[in-house]
Amino acid sequence: MSDYSALAPFKELEKYEEYLKIKSLYWDIGTNEFVWLDTRLLPFEEVYRRTRDYKRVAQAIKTMEIRGAPAIGVSAAYGMALAALYSKARNSEELMRDIREAYETLRSTRPTAYNLFWALDRVLNKAQETSKSGDPEKVKEAILEEAATIHVEDVRSNISIGKHGSKLIDNGDVILTHCNTGVLATSGFGTALGVIRYAWYEGKKIKVITTETRPVLQGARLNVWELKKEGIPFTLITDGMPGLVFRQGMADLAIVGADRIILTGHTANKIGTYMVALAAFDNDKPFYVAAPTSTIQKSTNPEDIVIEVRDPEEVRTVLGRYRLTLPDVDVYNPSFDITPPRYITGIITEKGVVYPPYIRNLRAILE
Ligand code: MRU
Repeated sequence: MSDYSALAPFKELEKYEEYLKIKSLYWDIGTNEFVWLDTRLLPFEEVYRRTRDYKRVAQAIKTMEIRGAPAIGVSAAYGMALAALYSKARNSEELMRDIREAYETLRSTRPTAYNLFWALDRVLNKAQETSKSGDPEKVKEAILEEAATIHVEDVRSNISIGKHGSKLIDNGDVILTHCNTGVLATSGFGTALGVIRYAWYEGKKIKVITTETRPVLQGARLNVWELKKEGIPFTLITDGMPGLVFRQGMADLAIVGADRIILTGHTANKIGTYMVALAAFDNDKPFYVAAPTSTIQKSTNPEDIVIEVRDPEEVRTVLGRYRLTLPDVDVYNPSFDITPPRYITGIITEKGVVYPPYIRNLRAILE
């Protein structure tokens, strides 16, 4: 196995160490393995998993050991790198066949997170381009370099989102958030939670209200874990409470992440986000979405947003451990909903805050 430790994006990642105190995922340059923190076990156990097998990465995404749109995208890109590096192909045609197989497997893991498709397409294009050289070693190195570039770009985007978003937060603000959008949903720092983290690092005296985020409990398990580690004060509420919380004046604004945004501004995010937006809107409070431009699909048709429907057992039980209802009840378990643009005050991206009309202003930042 070649030594890839000198690749430029790995060197660049070292520059961001101060922002990456908690690592959710990384490429081990010593062993050429992909490593991730298993979010299913948090907040009770901190267990890192490692693999050389892209199918294991696909399984980790599917079972939500790795979750959150940007983290899914970066992990899938590294999955492609594993498929190439550990392929037994004897020439570049065979290698491309293995890479395409990995691409299809990884693509089929989760349907809503746009970053997944964006990252996989980028890596596949890079592989196709370099395979023209006929040298499998060149293809392997190019794929790993592209995956690491996507990784470092995500870190950079998160920090910029934090910087832009923090300007919208005043000293003393109470910020309501839904689902986990922090380190555990990205390759470091976070999007909506990154904005909160940045404001905190700037010394603003803020407080967070996080929903529990049924049924996978990304709020109760993952936000609690991250916010506690940072020492940011927070209160946990159930998903039915944001209406009352806004009405009682307990929250000043809401910031959430996104799994997919289209040019019209329609935003797919964790189920329950739409209700948070309605509650904020009805109480004249700002509702912001924070996401990198890699989450934006160049479509103007909300029908293009695929909503993942997950296993009913997630709703019938608490994390598969405790049965909440009768085992055979009919359940509907969509993992995401779509918030219409009229409820979104602004979309915080790494290129700045985008305000309505989204169709014009989102197009402009993507040019
Ligand atoms: O089902 P999940 O946990 O992958 O859903 C995650 C979300 O809905 C996040 O808000 C979104 O991916 C943005 S993460 C920065």
